[in-house]
Amino acid sequence: MGTVSLNLFPIISSRQRLDINRVFSKRLFRHKTSTNKFFCIDDQISKNFSSDLRRLSSATNKKDSGIVLEKDSESLTNGQLSSKMHEGLGIIDFFGGKKLLITGATGFLAKVLVEKILRKMPEVDKMYLLIKAKDKEAAMERLMKEIVNTKLFECLREKQGTFFKKFILSKLVPVVGNMCETNLGIEEDVANRIAREVDVIINSVATTTFDERFDVALDLNTVGAARILTFAKKCEKLKLYVHLSTAYVCRQSEGKIIGQSFGKGHYVASSSDIFEEPHKHVHGLDIKAEIKLASEMKKSLKENEIDQKLKDLGMSRAQEYGWPNTYAFTKAMGEMVVEDIKGHLPVIIIRPSIIESTLKEPFPGWIEGNRMIDPVMILYGKGKIPGFYSDPNIALDVIPVDIVVNSTLAAIAKHGREESKPEDSNSSDDHVYQITSSVANPLVCRELSDMAYQHFSLFPCFDRMENPIHISTFMFFTSLEDFLSDMKNTNGNEKISPRKELIRRKSMEHFKYLAEIYQPYSFFDGRFDNKGVEKLMKCLSEKERKEFGFDVSSIDWKDYIIRVHFPGIRKHVMKERVSEIKPLQYNSCIIQNSQIHQLSAVKKQTS
Ligand SMILES: NC(=O)c1ccc[n+]([C@@H]2O[C@H](COP(=O)([O-])OP(=O)(O)OC[C@H]3O[C@@H](n4cnc5c(N)ncnc54)[C@H](OP(=O)(O)O)[C@@H]3O)[C@@H](O)[C@H]2O)c1
Repeated sequence: MGTVSLNLFPIISSRQRLDINRVFSKRLFRHKTSTNKFFCIDDQISKNFSSDLRRLSSATNKKDSGIVLEKDSESLTNGQLSSKMHEGLGIIDFFGGKKLLITGATGFLAKVLVEKILRKMPEVDKMYLLIKAKDKEAAMERLMKEIVNTKLFECLREKQGTFFKKFILSKLVPVVGNMCETNLGIEEDVANRIAREVDVIINSVATTTFDERFDVALDLNTVGAARILTFAKKCEKLKLYVHLSTAYVCRQSEGKIIGQSFGKGHYVASSSDIFEEPHKHVHGLDIKAEIKLASEMKKSLKENEIDQKLKDLGMSRAQEYGWPNTYAFTKAMGEMVVEDIKGHLPVIIIRPSIIESTLKEPFPGWIEGNRMIDPVMILYGKGKIPGFYSDPNIALDVIPVDIVVNSTLAAIAKHGREESKPEDSNSSDDHVYQITSSVANPLVCRELSDMAYQHFSLFPCFDRMENPIHISTFMFFTSLEDFLSDMKNTNGNEKISPRKELIRRKSMEHFKYLAEIYQPYSFFDGRFDNKGVEKLMKCLSEKERKEFGFDVSSIDWKDYIIRVHFPGIRKHVMKERVSEIKPLQYNSCIIQNSQIHQLSAVKKQTS
């Protein structure tokens, strides 16, 4: 049975106050003397800018009562704010001449990040890409095959023309390594060179399988974070360590979820800090003890039991401490480790939610792998399931991958210029970015299911005989039993050959597995606040907004899901021929809302 990667929905902690109306604006302006402030402060007050900012802030925070705008905006300066807004964060300027170390670049997210840097910031000096491989040749082969020669890089290829290969080879350096080994498994002289040269490290490695073996997930998501941070601390001129995490590291399961850092003291729960901020600590959690537990269990098991028992152990430990699965639990511990050992090193933590296909760049709809919401939607489109075990009223926190990349690049430019932070900066949450949509622009599950219905009605999948597969409106089941018994009916009870019977039984097991593993998310009623990225967005210049924009509130979900995302999945993941994704009587690539409504109305009348 296949496993499910990446949290469909979130988790969170009882330690957090659900302060829906939390006021953020005071913190926005508090770095009066810092070298890296959001806005500079002066005696002169610009009435124009104040009112612009008030408008901007009130538009952005419509859904958030209790925001103090007037007072803070009045303390802004005319000249300095004007020039700041004009200059923006200087993203392109920051990356010019920089050397980066990026892990996880054969994966979905970091690949999009690398492409964007090369396309928009060709002045970057070098990107060392840590790649698992037996030798340099194999690493180079993976670089070319899994990154550079993918469809994702077609725009860049076109832009660079005949210089493409030369350009790529002058910028990308594959480095043989492994996050599960000491010194990241990098050859000593190469590691020394990187440590001397590198300006920014971006760690995008993870095992994203929800129910991964506990020892494997700990080694990569938790101890791996410690290994790379230890390496980062040896880098002579490192300006920033960027840690890719997930919004679902939190354990809160309802209300508005604020992007709080774990702070110090989780690594060993007996740390003295635990008494200073007890609300920030997970009662009884001792990461070293978890690592020992997994390792001892592994030693005590027979070879044929190891996989299942260690998977079960991860899930039960996660649930004991309030996380829904091993992935979220080990990523949370990874963050705790980072907070605990970062010391003075400037660090930012990026917490995206459910990352899906590109919204715009380099072209809409690019995606790799069958992610998060997609397995369920594909099964539905193929007529294998009539709906899913889920609450229709929850918001699914989906975020297009290029929005995650743009926000991350902006955050790097902002924090990469900052001075080293004092160790006690742990109390601040300014370095944690939740890149999420469920507060700013929620996509409600029921709406998503309508969009799926509309998409697969307009653009049906085809069966083996090349007949279009007709689907009915998406059904929601709030009882697992009802869902499974409906599944049985959908998949037929008639007598069939033993081979077909085996396939049917496996399918049923898979549906049950999906329902159970998604359950903590499909009934999850939390919404992720994205104030941090909204503040960051205000620092962009007009030009940066065009080139690196990440305005979640402006996403038209209907257009994205129906016209961009589902076709993207079907083209790049299901590898359907483009002609198969065309609607039957339709010759434009843009679906008009009116047509969707008409179609929807007709279907409702006839059903
Ligand atoms: N995708 C999402 O929806 C999502 C949402 C929130 C947060 N995130 C976070 O974003 C980051 C990237 O996610 P993703 O979806 O891009 O993951 P992904 O596609 O699964 O990629 C994972 C990457 O990690 C690498 N890796 C695994 N084990 C390694 C090892 N021992 N040494 C070196 N590299 C290793 C993989 O390399 P190989 O190709 O060699 O296996 C691959 O490049 C992760 O930190 C994840 O937790 C993702």
